[in-house]
Amino acid sequence: MARITAGVATSHVPAIGAAVDNGKTQEPYWVPLFKGFEFSKRWIAAAKPDVVVLVYNDHASAFSLEIIPTFAIGCAERFAPADEGWGPRPVPVVEGHPEFAAHIAQSVIQQDFDLTIVNKMDVDHGLTVPLSLMFGQPAAWPCRVIPIAVNVVQFPPPSGNRCYELGKAIRRAVDCYDPDLNVQVWGTGGMSHQIQGPRAGLINKEFDQRFLDRLISAPEALAAMPHIEYIREAGAEGVELVMWFIMRGALDAQVKTIYRFYHVPASSTAVGHLILENAG
Ligand code: DHB
Ligand code: FE
Repeated sequence: MARITAGVATSHVPAIGAAVDNGKTQEPYWVPLFKGFEFSKRWIAAAKPDVVVLVYNDHASAFSLEIIPTFAIGCAERFAPADEGWGPRPVPVVEGHPEFAAHIAQSVIQQDFDLTIVNKMDVDHGLTVPLSLMFGQPAAWPCRVIPIAVNVVQFPPPSGNRCYELGKAIRRAVDCYDPDLNVQVWGTGGMSHQIQGPRAGLINKEFDQRFLDRLISAPEALAAMPHIEYIREAGAEGVELVMWFIMRGALDAQVKTIYRFYHVPASSTAVGHLILENAG
């Protein structure tokens, strides 16, 4: 049987991708950030997931503002890095898992979550930067990836609660898939950041640390937080954090914290990172 073995959360700043791609990870600005992912790279090399269900948001790369699915699942054989205005990132093409993705779509849609099925799309920094942080610069990504794209760019995004429940539905879908697969669920984006307007540059370390605490130990209560509180406390783009509930909902109620890291700044963003395993 397929089983979810771990959840990973990480921010997704585009400048991190540029630092990796341009050989700048050893520059003083970036050293503390990349040091924070050294344990994670060793951990994942041992954990060896077969498939990562990677929850992320598209930033008007694959979807324009003409069509914006709230939740979409990538069912393609492969996903090319998107051109976000300066050419596609020089990273490997992302290999999907069409059969498993179709199973998840079937199961989750029958559990009343209306996922949009996407058979062709490019993936932007929201998906490729977390892969770079966790795997570095391999010639090919070492696992298959099933992208789950969430709208957090155009209001209204889904609620934290809805995301948490979707995570539980994904868990049930994985639990009834026959092939023996080691599956991780990743939640990406966040933490506090605002990249435009008079509050550009807003960071709230207290909010972020408390969010990490409560995501681990009281996710259900945290998921009830309204969007306005993210925006007020964590900046307009802080609302990307709702995606982390899909990862958390896919895990047991009780989890073990394998690793926790927090760093400010990376570009305009506070970078948070968790590795969680089921406590059961
Ligand atoms: C930045 C952060 C983001 O989440 C994003 O999508 C784009 C830019 C930043 O901090 O620069
Ligand atoms: Fe973003």
